[in-house]
Amino acid sequence: MVPSLNNQTMLLSLKLTVIVIGLWFGAAIAELQRFQHPAKADGSLSVLVVGDWGRKGTHNQSEVAVQMGKTADKLNPDFIISTGDNFYEDGLTGTDDPAFAESFTNIYTAPSLQKQWYSVLGNHDYRGDALAQLSPILSQRDSRWFCLRSYVLDAEIVEFFFVDTTPFEDKYFSDPEDSTYDWRGVLPREEYLSNVLKDVDKALRESSANWKIVVGHHTIKSAGQHGNTVELVAKLLPILQANNVDLYINGHDHCLQHISSSDSPLQFLTSGGGSKAWRGDVSWWNPTEMKFYYDGQGYMTLEITQTEVGFTFYDIFGNVLHKWSTHLRSRTIDSAIRREFSLC
Ligand SMILES: *[C@@H]1O[C@H](CO)[C@@H](O)[C@H](O)[C@H]1NC(C)=O
Repeated sequence: MVPSLNNQTMLLSLKLTVIVIGLWFGAAIAELQRFQHPAKADGSLSVLVVGDWGRKGTHNQSEVAVQMGKTADKLNPDFIISTGDNFYEDGLTGTDDPAFAESFTNIYTAPSLQKQWYSVLGNHDYRGDALAQLSPILSQRDSRWFCLRSYVLDAEIVEFFFVDTTPFEDKYFSDPEDSTYDWRGVLPREEYLSNVLKDVDKALRESSANWKIVVGHHTIKSAGQHGNTVELVAKLLPILQANNVDLYINGHDHCLQHISSSDSPLQFLTSGGGSKAWRGDVSWWNPTEMKFYYDGQGYMTLEITQTEVGFTFYDIFGNVLHKWSTHLRSRTIDSAIRREFSLC
């Protein structure tokens, strides 16, 4: 009897080993999910970007939303991007949480904002039922809603790479007893992060789009309250630079901000002004890199063609605060010059 029991145990553990290896292998060769959103008939694309917003209309969220509607009337955006912290303070309690309607459906009511929204999760979203925001049930409640952790959005002339940045921050994990965050689907953490980095790198390397834009909730470079996210500077930034990413767009710091880099064409943009603003909370930053900082509320637009990408920041009154654009050819010449220099 005893040996046969042992055999059964061995067989079971063998089966488990096969399953575990299978899962590991499956995860290792996984790719980011891809979605498509067609550009306009003339090949151009325009997008509205807002972050850090869901406060049931308070802290000027409603005023920002009204102004977004006015800008969208003129711009006719193809879709809207949310840089995360979609629902304060603690995400959603579930797919039936009334906050979804109170902070999203009933706030962004302008006809010009009835477009697809593409969202990522912020740290505050992870403080509630994170899976609820990823659920197709929410898209049934409001068909504009679309949120996943990391994915690729192919918009023909440009590809957007959405990255789940919250699990990168050590401080959310520093207390092992902390049950504040909903880490379902994220643990074991090291494996999750290494897969995200591998998948993003692969998707960027294989992209043949004219423009590459990466979106995440957390900052890479920022003079705001949170400042740089050192984990992303160490792990994600080298991948963005190696793959000639044009823009990195984040929220998290409740401001509007444009930082350029002296060592690559990559521009760092913060659109985190969807509701509560952190007025006066700004650190010194090298003025040759700091192109624009606004510590009030607002949002950003992107206008993209085959040969040009531009962005504009707006305040709550619809005033244009800052505008920037770059041309594909100058970027190519730029990087050619840079290659020559690095060869010397
Ligand atoms: C709302 O926006 C106005 C205009 O920028 C500002 O004066 C006011 O302080 C803001 N209110 C809040 C609660 O942030």
